[in-house]
Amino acid sequence: MKEDFLQVFKERAGTVETALDGFVKVKDNYQSKIYEAMRYSLLGGGKRLRGVLCICGARMAGGKQEEALPFACAIEMIHAYSLIHDDLPAMDNDDIRRGKPTCHKAFDEATAILAGDALLNGAFELIMNESRVSASNTLAAMKIIAGGAGTEGMIGGQVMDIDAEHTQIGSERLRQLHKLKTGALISAALMSGYSACGGDVKNEETLREYAEKIGLAFQVVDDILDVQGDEKTLGKPLKSDEKNGKSTFVTLNGVEKSKMLARTLSGEAASLVKDMGEEGAFLAWLAEYLSDRKF
Ligand code: IPE
Ligand code: IPE
Ligand code: MG
Ligand code: MG
Ligand code: MG
Repeated sequence: MKEDFLQVFKERAGTVETALDGFVKVKDNYQSKIYEAMRYSLLGGGKRLRGVLCICGARMAGGKQEEALPFACAIEMIHAYSLIHDDLPAMDNDDIRRGKPTCHKAFDEATAILAGDALLNGAFELIMNESRVSASNTLAAMKIIAGGAGTEGMIGGQVMDIDAEHTQIGSERLRQLHKLKTGALISAALMSGYSACGGDVKNEETLREYAEKIGLAFQVVDDILDVQGDEKTLGKPLKSDEKNGKSTFVTLNGVEKSKMLARTLSGEAASLVKDMGEEGAFLAWLAEYLSDRKF
């Protein structure tokens, strides 16, 4: 069973990867460098968790994988943009991402800023060009994605994260920070797929609750991996948080308590969806799988 679900995850991640490769091409024009920088950071790395979740959302709503793909790819593009900008000297100032030099190291800062901007715009262009679902469902899904990426989502969380450097904020504020900087896009991934395929209100709240829990757990584990991970497996530098004086769950509660929190949240998430058919069982497995990840 476990191996089967891992295989499903890998297949879906592979589908997202192939679709991204097809959607974001280098153009042979004066600005070809921007396409190279976008592809450099977007392709050939990354777990594709958000893309896979978008597909899960679509399937939960009774839709098809193909219908979710433009949305899944758009979210992976937005995620890649957030990583490029997160690594910039003005933010976390990191040199390695997904096992290779960060965008601003491989190119330069200006190109990295622009590649991030381009991925963000490109994400919405991609949806508008490629969506095969109705205009109203497309719009509803786009609204979820824009919200998850914006000032009440990922960007808001990044602002809180920078603001909290070199101070220890309390647990309520830290939860909110993590919920926004990481949870919001993870939630948008699942819920946009669900919405794009016309998911009904019946399961919507449960899925949102599930996504919030795995989103928070995901960042708690990211905080743990920053101090305890293996740099090679992780593909990014350890101790980035310490270097930047970040407020994390590890600095607040220590590693052991943080691990417990991640496990508790994942267990709660899994029990919310485990009886929701085959797709629910997959989501339940995914919640547990992520809480114990090493990368
Ligand atoms: C890293 O996200 C940044 C966070 C929000 C914690 P991922 O761990 O999903 O990064 P990739 O996409 O697999 O590289
Ligand atoms: C970043 O959190 C979350 C984003 C929105 C990009 P981190 O700064 O902890 O992510 P990593 O550890 O660099 O991947
Ligand atoms: Mg950061
Ligand atoms: Mg970072
Ligand atoms: Mg981190």
